[in-house]
Amino acid sequence: MGDAHVFEGNRLSLHYRLGDVDVPALSDIDFQIEAGKFTCLAGPSGSGKSTLLNLLGLIEPMQKGNLLYFGTPVAALSEKQMNHIRRHEIGFVFQNFYLIDVLTAEENVEYFLSRQGIPAAERTKAAGRALEWVGLSDHRGKRPQQMSGGQRQRVAIARALAKRPKVILADEPTANLDSKTGLSVLELLRKACSEQGHSVIMASHDLQAIGLADRVIRLRDGRRAEDV
Ligand SMILES: Nc1ncnc2c1ncn2[C@@H]1O[C@H](COP(=O)(O)OP(=O)(O)OP(=O)(O)O)[C@@H](O)[C@H]1O
Ligand SMILES: [Mg+2]
Repeated sequence: MGDAHVFEGNRLSLHYRLGDVDVPALSDIDFQIEAGKFTCLAGPSGSGKSTLLNLLGLIEPMQKGNLLYFGTPVAALSEKQMNHIRRHEIGFVFQNFYLIDVLTAEENVEYFLSRQGIPAAERTKAAGRALEWVGLSDHRGKRPQQMSGGQRQRVAIARALAKRPKVILADEPTANLDSKTGLSVLELLRKACSEQGHSVIMASHDLQAIGLADRVIRLRDGRRAEDV
């Protein structure tokens, strides 16, 4: 192991089927994503960003091409190994936060950790540490409705970070936020790379997000567009 690339894709393709219609979401893309960096998958709506993120998160089954995770072909991983990676090594952040309404910030993070099989004794500590890191210690007893959008997204980031994953995958994490709040969320994600060593890969067409990333991979119609 010790591969400098968290992911490498070679001629990756993925087609969806909609009834009789074949939808080419990704067509023969090649890419390398460096570990410990803040990478943005950019491109217009429908260009394949979420599809690629779901492939990287081992959510969407591989169809064609080769995907390496820290140098290991994903196709060679057993279901057990994939589950281990999903549970312990990859954290997700979504546009709509996906917090549980009836639980407080702290309970949201703890509940998620319990679902990931983290022992009870560690959960409280890990949740407290993650909420502190995102600056929400004072709000840990609030439920999602009692928080602003930016605070909710920070809870979601704390939830993803609490298990100390190697990789954070974020799908349009700023899409439901105003630009100032979005910027604070982006800076937090960037700090997750620089201070905590996580590899953060974010899908976004937000210009602020593209501007803050270490590296931008541009997609258009399921293909690589020119990088910047
Ligand atoms: N489950 C699905 N079934 C059929 N087609 C799909 C499915 N999911 C996505 N697609 C299609 O695949 C293509 C890529 O979609 P994808 O969601 O990856 O784009 P995106 O870049 O994330 O767009 P957005 O910025 O709107 O989120 C689009 O043409 C989309 O309509
Ligand atoms: Mg998308």
